[in-house]
Amino acid sequence: MLDRSATSLDGKVAIVTGGGGGIGRAISETFAAHGAKVVVAERHAERAAETVAAIEGRGHAAVASVVDVQRRDEVESMVATALDAYGRIDILVNNVGDFLGITHRFIKTDEDDWEALYNINLKHVFHCTKAAVPQMIEQGDGGSIINVSTIEAFRGIPGNVAYSAFNTAITGFTRSLALELGPEKIRVNAIAPETTDTLQVPVSQWIPPENRDRIPYLTPLGRYGTVDDAAGCALFLASELSAWVTGTTVHMDGGALAAGGFYRLPSGAWTNNPLVDAGAIGAPDAGPDGGIGD
Ligand SMILES: NC(=O)c1ccc[n+]([C@@H]2O[C@H](COP(=O)([O-])OP(=O)(O)OC[C@H]3O[C@@H](n4cnc5c(N)ncnc54)[C@H](O)[C@@H]3O)[C@@H](O)[C@H]2O)c1
Repeated sequence: MLDRSATSLDGKVAIVTGGGGGIGRAISETFAAHGAKVVVAERHAERAAETVAAIEGRGHAAVASVVDVQRRDEVESMVATALDAYGRIDILVNNVGDFLGITHRFIKTDEDDWEALYNINLKHVFHCTKAAVPQMIEQGDGGSIINVSTIEAFRGIPGNVAYSAFNTAITGFTRSLALELGPEKIRVNAIAPETTDTLQVPVSQWIPPENRDRIPYLTPLGRYGTVDDAAGCALFLASELSAWVTGTTVHMDGGALAAGGFYRLPSGAWTNNPLVDAGAIGAPDAGPDGGIGD
C-alpha cells in the first residue's frame, strides 16, 4: 500500500523553467507545498520574485534564477544557482514554450518564425536537460524530467505547423531519453495540455460573453484546463506515485483527444457532424440504438 509519503517531494530539489507564470508557477508552488525546494527559473524577474515570495510566505523553500532558457550560458548559471542554493537536482521541469502569437499558414511562415519557434519550444529543452542531467546521474539515486509539450503534438493544428512540429519533437525526445536514462533510474515523461487558462492563453477573457454557455460542450469534461490540472499531472510524474512510469506523455486535455472530432450538443447528444442534427448520437430521433446521450 502507498501511504501519504508517496506524494511527498521532501528532500527533493526541483528546477521549473518558466516557473514564475502560468502553468510553471502552479507547478513551482505545488512542488514546494509538497516538500520540494524549488528553483524558479524564469525570464521575467518580477514574476520570479513574486513566486518565490508566495512560496516562502507559506513557509516553504524557493530561490529565483532569472534566466532566458534559450541561452546556454544562462542555463548553466541556472544549474549553478540550484547547486549553490541546495546542492543537488532531482527534478527538472522543461515547461517553457510559446506559440509566439504566430498563427498563419505554413506558406507564410518565414525562416525567422521557424527559428524563433524552434528556440522557444525545443532548443531550450536541449540546453536545460544537457545542463542538469550530468548532476542527476552523478547523484546516483534517480530523478524525474518532465517536459511540457501540447495536445497539438498529437493532432494537427492549422496555422501553427512549426509550433506543432517542435512540440511533436518533444514526444520523441521524451521517449528516447527515457530509454537512455532508465538504467540510472531517471524517469523522463511529458505533459500535453489542451487549452489552459494562463498568461499566454487567457482563454477565459477571449471567449465573448454570449458564447460562454457553449464551454461545457467543448470537451468531455466540460471546461478548459486550469494551471492546477497541470500541476497535478506534474506532481504525479515527479513523485513516487509514478515510480514505474517513463517515456510517456500524460494527455491533460479533459478528454479532448479521446473525443477526436466528437463533441456534445446542448441537447446532450454527441456529434462529429454538426451539419446533421438528426444523426447525432443520443439525439431524441436517433433511434433505439443511438441513445448514448439518454
Ligand atoms: N496554456 C495553454 O493553453 C497551453 C496549451 C498547450 C501547451 N501549453 C504549454 O504549456 C507550457 C506553459 O504555457 P503557459 O500557457 O503556462 O505559458 P505562460 O506564457 O502563461 O507562462 C510561461 C512562463 O514562462 C516564462 N518564460 C517565457 N519564456 C521564457 C524563457 N525563454 N526563459 C525563461 N522563462 C520564460 C514567462 O515569463 C512566463 O512566466 C508551454 O510549454 C506551452 O507551450 C500551454
